[in-house]
Amino acid sequence: MKIEGKSYKTIWFEDNLVKIIDQTKLPHKFVIKDLKNVKDAINAIKTMEVRGAPLIGATAAYGLVLSVIEKNDLSFLKKSSEELIASRPTAINLKWAVDRMMKKLNGINEKDIFKIALDEAKAIKEEDEGFCKNIGLNGLKIIEEISNKKKDTVNILTHCNAGWLATIDWGTATSPIYHAHQKGIKVHVWVDETRPRNQGANLTSYELNEEGISNTVITDNAGGILMQRGQVDMCIVGTDRTLSNGDVCNKIGTYLKALSAKDNNVPFYVALPSSTIDWSIKDHKHIPIEERNSEELSHIEGIDENNEIKKVRIYPQESKSLNLAFDVTPAKLVTGLITEKGVCEASEKGLKGLFK
Ligand code: MRU
Repeated sequence: MKIEGKSYKTIWFEDNLVKIIDQTKLPHKFVIKDLKNVKDAINAIKTMEVRGAPLIGATAAYGLVLSVIEKNDLSFLKKSSEELIASRPTAINLKWAVDRMMKKLNGINEKDIFKIALDEAKAIKEEDEGFCKNIGLNGLKIIEEISNKKKDTVNILTHCNAGWLATIDWGTATSPIYHAHQKGIKVHVWVDETRPRNQGANLTSYELNEEGISNTVITDNAGGILMQRGQVDMCIVGTDRTLSNGDVCNKIGTYLKALSAKDNNVPFYVALPSSTIDWSIKDHKHIPIEERNSEELSHIEGIDENNEIKKVRIYPQESKSLNLAFDVTPAKLVTGLITEKGVCEASEKGLKGLFK
């Protein structure tokens, strides 16, 4: 998608370096950063210079390419893969991408390993782009149906950033929105600000603005009243890990939106590529929920009148805080899963029908 009219992907390989858009600086500054070695890749994932389930998977894959460039040695590669998997615990795409790379590289000789690693990382990247495009085409039909019935602007609520910045291109939750907009369907997006890191306000609103899509940032608690007032036609969110029974783990606060949607008969859709499905865990209580630094809660960042990014404390130093980054929305609250293969019920039967 575009930034200032120019098309970008979120990650690419150039001159033996991995290039990323530093998302900690957006929307105030557009900075392309070089990842020079596997440590840089691990750090970019931990500090959320790159974030969003599919993008951290792709970054981990490229991180292994950097590991091979740094030291063409199997024990170093294994150590890199373990450190990459541990860099963020909740999004399953990270482990999925690392396992896929390691399977491909297993038993490959030193001479060929770099090319094979690079080809596989590129394949993961290109596959995600294709998946997200198809998620968009499948979700478009749902938006089209609402638009045909309503004969007016379709109001869509989304949480966090499951936009193109969270993937390689298109996004998951935003892909149907981009496709609808490109087809001339009138859409407006309610963007949950998504405290504490404000991925909605900082990233989703920014990328929608760059594509000329009407959007309004709301506080995380405003969705309920908007749904009661009939101002939300549907919700579309992303996910970091969806279980085979259809339970959806996503950014903290998603569950409360789904409850509110259920109470107000607002359809609640989750958009995901198959790389986000966890077929192994059967009970959501076993999903590792990331707990991040409490400073993300106690401090807030913005830009001052001199165009400088500043961080300020917003509550007493002695106050305790708990910063859980994700929650789980039970399948019964989910209207449907929008995947690259089609839309299905949030259940084992639904998912197995699409993914044999
Ligand atoms: O903590 P983040 O910003 O990585 O969380 C991102 C989300 O919760 C997204 O909804 C999810 O990764 C899906 S991205 C297509």
